[in-house]
Amino acid sequence: MNDVVQLTRDRAIAIITINNPPVNALSPAVAEGIASAIEQVGKDDSIAAGVLIGAGRTFVAGADIKEFGKITSGKVPRGSGLLPLLLRIEDSKPVVVAIHGAAFGGGLELAMAGHYRVAAPSAQLGQPEVKLGIIPGAGGTQRLPRLVGVAKALEMCTEGNPISAEEALLAGLVDQLMASDLLSGAIAFAREVAGKPGRKTRDRNDKLSSAEGNAQLFAAARERARSRQRGRKAPLAAIDAVEAATRLSFEEGCQVERKLFDDCLFSEQSKALIHIFFGEREVSKIPDIPKETPALSVNSAAVVGAGTMGGGIAMVFANAGVPVLLKDADRPALDRGIATIQKNYLSSVKRGRLTQQFVDERLALIRPTLAYDDFGAVDMVVEAVFEGMALKKEVFRQLDRVCSKGAILATNTSTLDIDEIASATSRPEAVLGTHFFSPANVMRLLEIVRGRRTSKEAIATGMQLSRKLGKVGVLVGNCRGFVGNRMFHHYVRESVFLVEEGASPELVDKALYDFGMALGPLATGDLAGLDVGWRIRKEYRHLEKPGVRQPIVGDRLCELGRFGQKTGAGWYKYDESRRAIPDHEVNALVRKWAIEAGIPQREISAQEIVERCIYALVNEGCRVLDEGIALRAADIDVIYVDGYGFPAFRGGPMWYADTVGLRNVYDRIRDFHEQFGELWEPAPLLTRLAEEDKTFANFVGQQTAVA
Ligand code: 3HC
Ligand code: NAI
Repeated sequence: MNDVVQLTRDRAIAIITINNPPVNALSPAVAEGIASAIEQVGKDDSIAAGVLIGAGRTFVAGADIKEFGKITSGKVPRGSGLLPLLLRIEDSKPVVVAIHGAAFGGGLELAMAGHYRVAAPSAQLGQPEVKLGIIPGAGGTQRLPRLVGVAKALEMCTEGNPISAEEALLAGLVDQLMASDLLSGAIAFAREVAGKPGRKTRDRNDKLSSAEGNAQLFAAARERARSRQRGRKAPLAAIDAVEAATRLSFEEGCQVERKLFDDCLFSEQSKALIHIFFGEREVSKIPDIPKETPALSVNSAAVVGAGTMGGGIAMVFANAGVPVLLKDADRPALDRGIATIQKNYLSSVKRGRLTQQFVDERLALIRPTLAYDDFGAVDMVVEAVFEGMALKKEVFRQLDRVCSKGAILATNTSTLDIDEIASATSRPEAVLGTHFFSPANVMRLLEIVRGRRTSKEAIATGMQLSRKLGKVGVLVGNCRGFVGNRMFHHYVRESVFLVEEGASPELVDKALYDFGMALGPLATGDLAGLDVGWRIRKEYRHLEKPGVRQPIVGDRLCELGRFGQKTGAGWYKYDESRRAIPDHEVNALVRKWAIEAGIPQREISAQEIVERCIYALVNEGCRVLDEGIALRAADIDVIYVDGYGFPAFRGGPMWYADTVGLRNVYDRIRDFHEQFGELWEPAPLLTRLAEEDKTFANFVGQQTAVA
């Protein structure tokens, strides 16, 4: 056929094999290859049926996502897509689709155009297009409800999560599971159905019911999409498309789907989400640390400090099947840590997210201890004790003494100098930062911090470990706050300035929530504890430049003992269920303090709030990039989407700035500079790019990520 699709045969059964590594994406060449194989099968009277299978690790991961950018930028024409090919398959002799690995997006649509589907038990099937800001575009919204019913199709197309082969079997998406060899099972299946009339998915209308009958389902799906996927357009488009399947003929439904697909494909949201998809994969590519760099396989670990972070990190190891020692300094702290872990697991079981058996197995992997005995046998240690240099160095001195020579020693510090911590050991090359985000067992981001002497092997180990733990690891350089917190400091500071100038905390938080942030900055402060920043500010006060504006009201709240949720009050009041309630008393106090400090009061628009907070991120992001603390603008975007609740549909702060136009962002920052002083001095990189009319997307910096 061609390089990526092969046609072979086993007596009367044709075997069409897609071989387009790594994931058999449906590139134009694959579509052409399948089309000519199907034509050949049709013409050859000695062939009674066909098997369609993927070579390598997976069936088909979907349309080739790289093609979308070429279409939206006008480099290649939109074309007719996969629909005509899928109709041809459906009209041909019986085709049994054999699925292993993933049948995602266009891959599942291809599978549904076959007459039968068999699957390996470990296979996953799904329509994840919404995660890329689009909807299924090759009849998926029309064929899926015909196979699994409207409710299940709605769930799969609007949430984008895959289902297991077993669930697919129960739902009617798969006809048989093949426990042993998939190909021979599929061939045997094909022999059984050979010669029988083809069973076309598009003609199977019995599971569709009517638009009226399904009205409640659609209303509930829309409400759910609006609240769970706030601000995103694709899930609502997917619902419209599935609804069309219940109102219109298959052909008309496909036309509706195509129009909705095109609207989504050309939207800013889709471009942003595709940027994040590739960004999450790009972050693992580190220029001076090639893929072949030897890395230690972490099969056992230890965590020091069983507090908020240490407990969560121990859960992360256990969830990945890695046995972990959890050490604290004293019995009450250790018991508290273990009790919190048990409580967290229990609540996941109650919510149906985990089974009791899974939890029992994970808990058995976590071994509480008060001593360093047995640390000699672990591959890696993550330290998560209180944030204090003297204490951290003492812990690392101990670790250096007890751990085996090849072990990796990591710190979860959020602000301290990795090099100074490493200096407490005789093996600074084995020391790095693994900066988890709270709650560690939930947040996907892991900043891997490179110290001056951290070895390439240690970094390769950290990056590989991120994947094993189900995290997105991003390499960052060693500086105060690394990438994420360093930038976040500027964002939060601006939010407090806005409050001091006349906006209420609710107004600031609402503007950013409406922009798409998971939580406003002030509510985030209340959640994390306002005392944390207060303590840091006091410690670093001597570094503040005289005459430069500093926020004042946050510290005043702390002086009143208002540390946020943990004390029942911060920027907001909290009820027993930790619901934030605007506190007029605080608002009046803030107003009084600001006026006493001579800060002019005025009305502030939502637009100004968003611009000041988000552009503060962008301006500092430029410095981070210029200094090589982050490798690429996309790395910053991934950090913000996966670690700070930045809306993925806006692509992260740097991508968002590109969409606004760097010239516009720069001009606004210059206005702020004039109005608010030196904290707003435009970063040199921003100035450069704006003047040269460039974007972050095309910017290739010095790419170091080393301090
Ligand atoms: N198109 C192009 N490249 C793809 C791709 C796709 N659909 N899916 C994966 N890749 C690339 C990745 O970018 C990566 O490239 P790299 O090695 O150069 O970084 C490589 O394949 C391997 O991918 P992963 O690192 O993600 O490998 P994993 O084994 O961890 O995961 C996977 C495999 C589960 C298939 C995962 O890649 C995935 O979820 N892919 C995307 C699936 C998807 O969204 N499909 C829908 C596409 S849109 C569509 O089909 C529209 C249709 O309705 C018309
Ligand atoms: P925490 O106060 O909840 O827990 C610290 C734990 O360390 C306590 O259980 C304490 O008993 C234990 N400990 C103290 N000295 C010890 C010693 N010598 N040996 C063993 N255990 C000892 O602190 P948290 O919030 O978990 O922070 C831990 C680290 O993680 C800090 O470096 C912090 O900066 C960092 N971090 C915190 C985040 C957060 O949101 N809380 C986010 C990311 C990083």
